[in-house]
Amino acid sequence: MLRKKSKQFNWQHKHLLGLRDLSAEEITFILDTAEGFEEISTRSVKKAPPLRGKVVVNLFFEDSTRTRNSFTLAANRLSADVIEFTQKTSSVSKGETLLDTAKNLEAMGIDIVVIRHNAAGVPKLLSRSINACVVNAGDGYCEHPTQGLLDVYTIRKFKGSFDGLKIAIVGDIAHSRVARSDMWAMTKLGAEVIFVAPPTLIPGNVDKLPVKVSYSLDEVIEKVDVINMLRIQFERLGGNPFPSVREYSHYFGLTVERMKKAKPDILVMHPGPINRGLEMESEVADGKNSVILEQVKNGLAVRMAVLFLVNQAAAQQQ
Ligand code: CP
Repeated sequence: MLRKKSKQFNWQHKHLLGLRDLSAEEITFILDTAEGFEEISTRSVKKAPPLRGKVVVNLFFEDSTRTRNSFTLAANRLSADVIEFTQKTSSVSKGETLLDTAKNLEAMGIDIVVIRHNAAGVPKLLSRSINACVVNAGDGYCEHPTQGLLDVYTIRKFKGSFDGLKIAIVGDIAHSRVARSDMWAMTKLGAEVIFVAPPTLIPGNVDKLPVKVSYSLDEVIEKVDVINMLRIQFERLGGNPFPSVREYSHYFGLTVERMKKAKPDILVMHPGPINRGLEMESEVADGKNSVILEQVKNGLAVRMAVLFLVNQAAAQQQ
């Protein structure tokens, strides 16, 4: 789809910590940059030189399939060297602190740190403590900016524009960094966002957020253009926010039956990993409206763009 390109401007952020503080213009600029990088993945030799001689470290303190591998591949495609750090096989298991770990890696000459941590604010803390660029790959319940970017990139690809678009984000919103990054990106770009969940899974500060709230998926499903189903984060629940998974699935699961009420061209999204049969039935996850694997594919171009832009900003600031 042809669209007017965002105005060229000087990208100045050497860190990507979240989407809350980015403007619509900056988000659009990242998406446009990502569009330019898609072509590299179609070449027979899937490589380009922008990060040649640079070192990216994947500093993951939580498990990941999509984000970690996507960042690794994105860095490889841009010709960077990649260090894969995992907590379990590192000296963190001997008591080394996060900051000592990062400073020791920095002493080896790293340029970009991609960090995932279960505590909100760790990427920001790191950005103030080391000279390398810092990219947030998910911090606690706070933000997961590259997931938010790949989600809006995917929506833009299928729907063209965010004007008048209604998007439902459904499920465990209280514990979801994806919901927060999605909300900032989607509303800044002009969409209306509705959080749909049982009251126990809606964040306490929701009245201060730029969203509507509904406790009934059945009331919302026929009105929305996009539905983003979130994973129930059992590892973070710390209580029983619903009586049983069966009851949750009955009221908030995306079933084949419920999909009959949706618009025929509704986009079905999920950041992954999916609890099949709980958040959505397999027939829906793999059905004709699902763009779940397209999201994963688009994540690669978006992460190439992010690595490229933060490195460019760092070079300008030297
Ligand atoms: N969407 C997402 O963050 O998936 P991973 O936890 O596998 O990285």
